Amino acid sequence: MVVGRAGAATGTRRLTGVLVLVLNGPNLDRLGTREPDIYGAVTLADISERCIRDGAALGLEVETRQTNAEAELIGWLHDAADSSTPVVLNPAAFTHYSYAVRDACAMLTAPLIEVHLSNPHARETFRHTSVISGVATGTIAGFGADSYRLALHAVATIVGSAQR
Ligand code: DQA
Repeated sequence: MVVGRAGAATGTRRLTGVLVLVLNGPNLDRLGTREPDIYGAVTLADISERCIRDGAALGLEVETRQTNAEAELIGWLHDAADSSTPVVLNPAAFTHYSYAVRDACAMLTAPLIEVHLSNPHARETFRHTSVISGVATGTIAGFGADSYRLALHAVATIVGSAQR
């Protein structure tokens, strides 16, 4: 599902920025009530709004999506590969075992920033492995919702949108 899109609230969709997809994997639609001791009270809608706002300040046109289905996420990655669209991806649990998501990420031609709200390395051992990191431009983890802002900064720096 599309969670948010630049200009959607006002109907004034701005087409001048560099498009960036912020993709979220399984169970991230439950943020706000899901394990608040780990993920805090922030909801995916909050994160989406922040991404769109922070992206606009960086010259990026952000669209945020979330899915619980591996096939849907892979389809979005294929589209991003075909259109050379930068991606900020929180693969959620797919991080740790989905070679199919990794292989789709490997086809991306624009920057891929892997993000996590928590620091998986400070958690259970099975979270210490990311099958995505090896094909990502970089990984940002452990800063809560700010992980997304930092990831958008990284994209803006790489594509040079902030100078436009
Ligand atoms: C997560 C970390 C993953 O280990 C977990 O499966 C998630 C969320 C994070 O953002 O901290 O669903 O990606």
